[in-house]
Amino acid sequence: MKNFFYLGLALWCASVAAQNVGETAVAPQQIKAGAEIYAIHCATCHGNRMKNPEWAIDLATIPKNDRQRFIQSVTSGKNNMPPWGDVLKPDEIVALWAYFLAGEK
Ligand code: HEC
Repeated sequence: MKNFFYLGLALWCASVAAQNVGETAVAPQQIKAGAEIYAIHCATCHGNRMKNPEWAIDLATIPKNDRQRFIQSVTSGKNNMPPWGDVLKPDEIVALWAYFLAGEK
């Protein structure tokens, strides 16, 4: 009987772990795609590889725990930043988020 309890516990832990991975993990190919989109559309203002921005804010100052804000600002624009919702597909903006989260190493 006791063994079933441990087996159940192990399965439960595994499923919780799998869910967490699904929510937060980003795929390497997403990061790569994001880096390419960034180089084309974002680097002119935010700097090559997210470093030394020409005049826009330094993305290093933007919180990495606020996916909603990132997606919202990039999609709809913010102050002097143009909106990207018409230019980029939603999954391309998610790829940018993945690249932003991963950072340049
Ligand atoms: C024309 C220049 C320009 C380009 C191109 C540009 N940005 Fe921005 N971006 C800005 C400026 C200026 C701000 C600061 C907005 C503010 O807070 O006043 C900003 C702010 C941001 C922020 C922070 C928003 C927040 O919530 O505070 C993010 C994230 C961001 N940009 C991502 C991107 C991404 C990703 C791209 C490429 C798709 C991009 N930007 C392209 C000018 C630009």
